[in-house]
Amino acid sequence: MAVLDVVKYPDPRLREPTHPVEHFDEGLRQLVRDLADTMFALNGAGIAAIQVGRLERVFLIDGRVAGREDDVPVVFCNPEMIDSGHGISISEEGCLSFPGVFVEVKRPRWVKFRAQDQDGQWFEIEGEGLLARALQHELDHLTGRLLVDMVGMVKKEMIKRKMKRWHASQEGSGGDGDDDAVADDAAPVGA
Ligand code: NI
Repeated sequence: MAVLDVVKYPDPRLREPTHPVEHFDEGLRQLVRDLADTMFALNGAGIAAIQVGRLERVFLIDGRVAGREDDVPVVFCNPEMIDSGHGISISEEGCLSFPGVFVEVKRPRWVKFRAQDQDGQWFEIEGEGLLARALQHELDHLTGRLLVDMVGMVKKEMIKRKMKRWHASQEGSGGDGDDDAVADDAAPVGA
């Protein structure tokens, strides 16, 4: 079990260009296991590889969020949004890279995605509600798009200040040692 450090805003690694998964090998499976451990440890609805400093186009969504019977994460490699619609939904989102920050984001209510699983098999998934939101949030991560990009100037400055305070609060406390406390905050839709 490996819970990895999550990269927090404004770390420039969150803006790095990502690249497609080409090898569906043991290295990928290890990354997926570590992402799953990290997502569960922080109580996230999803997590993208770039949030642990890896540039593969990979994200995970909690199985229950994805409409499965259990919470075994659904793995999305090289994901694409192939359709969206059914109107617009506005709801609060959190992000594991922005502890304690919640932002109202407008998104299409329904989406359809295609992606490869960790063995390289293509599959499609569609959904509304939290699933649609989590899929779009994670896909945004793969293009470097973050919660702070979805708000006006005033809110953007608020988020920047809040993150500055968060980083200051971490100094001298042993790095990411406060992540457990943060996870409770981020529980609803942190991804
Ligand atoms: Ni996020």
